[in-house]
Amino acid sequence: MISAHLQPSFTSQMEEKNSVMGRENCRGKGGKAGFKVAILGAAGGIGQSLSLLMKMNPLVSLLHLYDVVNAPGVTADVSHMDTGAVDSWDAKQLEDALTGMDLVIIPAGVPRKPGMTRDDLFKINAGIVKALCEGVAKCCPNAIVNLISNPVNSTVTIAAEVFKKAGTYDPKKLLGVTTLDVARANTFVAEVLGLDPREVDVPVVGGHAGVTILPLLSQVKPPSSFTLSETEYLTNRIQNGGTEVVEAKAGAGSATLSMAYAAAKFADACLRGLRGDANVVECSFVASQVTELPFFATKVHLGRTGAEEVYHLGPLNEYESVGLEKAKEELAGSIQKGVDFNRK
Ligand code: NAD
Ligand code: LMR
Repeated sequence: MISAHLQPSFTSQMEEKNSVMGRENCRGKGGKAGFKVAILGAAGGIGQSLSLLMKMNPLVSLLHLYDVVNAPGVTADVSHMDTGAVDSWDAKQLEDALTGMDLVIIPAGVPRKPGMTRDDLFKINAGIVKALCEGVAKCCPNAIVNLISNPVNSTVTIAAEVFKKAGTYDPKKLLGVTTLDVARANTFVAEVLGLDPREVDVPVVGGHAGVTILPLLSQVKPPSSFTLSETEYLTNRIQNGGTEVVEAKAGAGSATLSMAYAAAKFADACLRGLRGDANVVECSFVASQVTELPFFATKVHLGRTGAEEVYHLGPLNEYESVGLEKAKEELAGSIQKGVDFNRK
């Protein structure tokens, strides 16, 4: 396993414009071999920036942008970029949007306002995720799914239950996106250490809400030690990074630009895995046997069939062991809430 900062950089990947992939069976509209990617919720705060970034990704031959509003406008805009092909699909065309896709990225749903928890979004977003995943099960059951819509700790279980019911569930292909937690951890730890964040790799495990976000500061690369007050400051800031942005935006939504960056970075890793690149490792919330919970975020190896290996936690210090117990307690309820939703 190599750390994220030793992998080919995301930016340099982006610069390989129109490179030809080693996948003969996937010719895009523009005639280039590559992968077909759908973004569901493409006209939203995350969706628009993510559409821009995925349109720049040389591994993508065809981008399908789907939303219940404004997808044609976003598509017309990014279609003028001299990169891979793009098509637009409106509310009634979910099946067309999904047919033939290799990767489906889902940022559809409402964001938080100040004072709300991610779980407060469950009521609206659970139904949205369920309907979209029913479409995936029907139209592209072999696609990798990157689930961004909150609360991730519950929406991933909702998706799993939909796929189980449809008989298409492949645990390796359902990935909750927690990359923003890692990006924040790398950034905040780098600030404390006086390093460039691109040189720092912090594993963040557990889930994607409050105390379920557990940075493993004892495993930071390059190896570093932290005082108790630094550990408390960093853990607290990483766990509350989302709320920091929600409050700064003062009612105008939650993280969109940093999230689009994180989603594009994670999607790029999934595509490199699909292509067969070696040593593609990212943190993600996936089906797991690392703890007694059925889902948990840890580092995973991304390969031709998705999350091919789920890595163990590694040695934890006492502070992290206490955090792990708190994370598991909250996660258990959130995971079960997603399961129960599908059984209604
Ligand atoms: P937004 O409101 O700006 O955009 C959401 C988009 O989803 C809108 O364009 C809306 O029309 C679309 N949408 C709603 N229902 C849909 C459906 N049935 N099919 C297709 N599209 C639909 O919100 P945003 O800021 O982009 O955030 C989106 C979601 O991502 C929120 O739930 C937010 O909490 C979550 N989020 C997750 C992370 C993470 O780390 N996983 C980070 C940031 C935000
Ligand atoms: C984040 O971590 O930024 C997202 O989950 C959005 C939120 O509601 O905080």
